[in-house]
Order: sequence, then C-alpha cells, then structure tokens
Amino acid sequence: MAKQRKVLVTGGCGFIGSNFIQLVAETRPSWRVVNLDVLTYAGNLKNLSGIGENAAYRFVKGDICDQALVSSLFDQERIDTVVHFAAESHVDRSIVGPDAFIRTNILGTFTLLEAARSWWLAGDKVQAEPLFLHVSTDEVFGSLGESGYFSETTAYDPRSPYSASKASSDHLAASYFHTYGLPVMITNCSNNYGPYQFPEKLIPLIFNNARNGKELPVYGDGKNIRDWLYVTDHCQAIIEVLDKGSSGRSYNIGGNNEKTNIEVVTLICEMLDAKIGPLPDGQSRTSLITYVTDRLGHDRRYAIDSTRLKEEIGWQPSVTFEQGIEMTIDWYLANLDWLETVIDGSYQDYYKQMYA
Ligand code: NAD
Ligand code: DAU
Repeated sequence: MAKQRKVLVTGGCGFIGSNFIQLVAETRPSWRVVNLDVLTYAGNLKNLSGIGENAAYRFVKGDICDQALVSSLFDQERIDTVVHFAAESHVDRSIVGPDAFIRTNILGTFTLLEAARSWWLAGDKVQAEPLFLHVSTDEVFGSLGESGYFSETTAYDPRSPYSASKASSDHLAASYFHTYGLPVMITNCSNNYGPYQFPEKLIPLIFNNARNGKELPVYGDGKNIRDWLYVTDHCQAIIEVLDKGSSGRSYNIGGNNEKTNIEVVTLICEMLDAKIGPLPDGQSRTSLITYVTDRLGHDRRYAIDSTRLKEEIGWQPSVTFEQGIEMTIDWYLANLDWLETVIDGSYQDYYKQMYA
C-alpha cells in the first residue's frame, strides 16, 4: 500500500503544480496537501476550483522566501514530504528581468531547504522517511547539437538566467543531501504542455493567437527542438518518484517527443482549421506564421534520456504528442473563459472574492 503523506506543495496554483494537486486528489486521496503559493501572475486559484472543498487540502497564500511562514507550516502540519514547484518559470521574462528568478528560484529554494533541515533533522522532531522533491528542468543541461540526449550525468551548462537560477537551486538541493543527509530527490523534466498553462508559453500562446487570427511569432528559423511531455505524465512520474525513488538521486523525465517549433505551430494551426474552420478569408491559420527576432541565447535542442526513470521506477509516458496536443487543444477550446480571464488578468480578483 502507498505511504500516507503530509505534503507541502509549493507553487500549486501554477500550471504543473495545479495538475499535480488534481492528480493527487484523484489517485492519492488520503494524502494531506498544503499548497503554498504567493499567486504571482502565473498562479491562479481557479486552476484548483474543483478541489477547494476537499478536507485533505489547504491553501496558504504566501511566499516561499518567508522563512517564518515556511517554518510554521512544517511545524503546524507536521510535513513529511515537500514537492517544490514554485518558481519563476518563463525564459523570456528571465532575459528582460532576472531579479525575481534569483530571489524565488534560488533564495526561495534555500529557505525551504533550511526549514526542512531544521524541522526534519532537529532532535525529537525527526520524521520517518521524509522526502524533499525538488522539481527542476532539463534546461540546466544547456543545449544539444543534432544528436545525443541529456542524461542524469550530463554536466550542467545553463545558458539563460532562468536555467542558471534553476541549476543553482539544484546544486543547493543536492548539497543538502550530501552535507546534512537531508533526503532530497531532484527531477529534471522536459517541456510540459496541457491544461492550465499560462498563455505566455509557446503552445497556449499560439493557440490563442491562431484562434483570434493574430500573428504567430516563431523565433529565429523555427527549427529549435523541444522534447514535449503531457503535463499529467510529468505529474504521474513525480508521484512514482515519491513512491519509489531513492534519496540523493536525480531522475530525468522526458516524453521522447522531439519536435521543431515550426512543426508544433503548424500542427496547432491545422488542428484549429479542422476543428473551428479556416480564417474568415478562407486561408489556413498557417498563413499567420511570422518569423521574428530570435530569443537571446536561444538553446537549440533539448532531448531527454529517461532510462533511469523507466528502469528504476517503472514509469512510462501514457500519451503520444499527437494524442496530447489534441487533448490540449480540445481543453482550451472547452475552457475559453479560463483563457480570457487569464489574458485580461481578472482571475487575480478571484482570490479577493474567495478569501478577502
Ligand atoms: P508556473 O509559472 O506556471 O507556476 C509557478 C507557480 O509558482 C505559480 O503558481 C506562482 O504563483 C508560484 N510562485 C512563484 N513565486 C513564488 C514564491 N516566491 N512563493 C510562492 N509561490 C510562488 O510554472 P510551471 O510551468 O508550473 O513550473 C513549475 C515548476 O516546474 C518550476 O519549478 C519549473 O522550473 C519546473 N519545470 C517546468 C517545466 C515546464 O515546461 N513548464 C518543465 C520542467 C520543469
Ligand atoms: O525544457 C523545460 C522548460 O520548458 C521549462 O523549464 C520552462 O519553465 C518552460 O517555460 C519551457 O521553456 P522553453 O523556453 O522551452 O518554453 P517556451 O514555451 O517559452 O518556448 C518553447 C520554444 O518555442 C522555444 O524554443 C522558444 C520558442 N518560442 C516561444 C515563444 C513564447 C517561439 O518561437 N515563439 C514564442 O512566442
């Protein structure tokens, strides 16, 4: 039988965190989940409106950099598991304003590690089999050429302020295992897509512009490659790593779905043409594709080798990219109201209506 857990989830109102909490509510209903999220532009309580009444769930609005708050949550809730998603996550934002990335991704992770260390490793408060799962990215490994894959032993080579801040937090997390014996695991995942992704990221941004007949900005030559993973498959991998992973170990998570950006953008256009019809002038939405100035320091190719996760944990992705992208487009089409409130910012009033 799976272990009972008292889980502190950070960043649970974001894209992956909210999918994770929903999956836990469905598949591990006995877990106590405390969701600590400061609700930046990327955090949306509506992502979790379905489980708001669940007695095993508690939302706390707060900052992972707030040491007193974080420590009090460990104490009050007797937390035995941390799943740390909270971060500034968008590469383009890190290029124009790295400060928040340094603060949240590095100092925030440090604050959580310190709180876990003092709660779990201090005298009579030692917890049975605690776990700190630090959720990270394949971007810490840098950029691949035409061949090869990132494995867990690939040297770190972060190239944007975002990936450098994540690399820094990975090193801090690993150091707490080696130095203090804190039971830390790290997962490094490839590009996620699926429901509730903020429409600054490629797939929801292209969906939204394409449905509105707006330009579809493709950076550079459009041939940069990402390895796409459906978000629920990522969340399932995290649950399985919590169940079966080993402390001090890192696990790469990838979908084995390498696509160029132009392939992804073209596919979304073709799917929308088929589902809602072509543009009013009869043209395909592919006519909206516009090549724009490249992202600074744009990593060329990411591709993940997930052999360790498959062999040691037994995880496999459950959906292909073709299935996942169709599910994603159908979800966005069925949830245009969610998209509208995210784009006009009105979802940020929801907290006031719910809690103020
Ligand atoms: P997101 O931007 O959608 O959500 C981030 C969440 O963290 C938001 O709810 C936000 O309010 C919260 N947050 C930000 N700063 C905070 C702070 N100081 N205190 C408390 N909460 C704070 O991000 P995401 O795409 O869901 O990514 C989640 C994690 O997964 C990140 O650590 C990211 O690096 C990692 N990751 C993401 C991907 C991807 O493709 N999106 C892939 C691999 C790894
Ligand atoms: O690889 C994992 C990472 O994937 C995560 O760690 C990050 O949090 C997540 O944001 C994502 O980073 P990317 O930079 O790969 O994702 P993004 O959706 O921003 O861009 C995907 C690709 O599409 C990238 O090559 C840049 C390109 N792009 C992006 C946007 C927003 C465009 O061509 N046009 C765009 O408008």
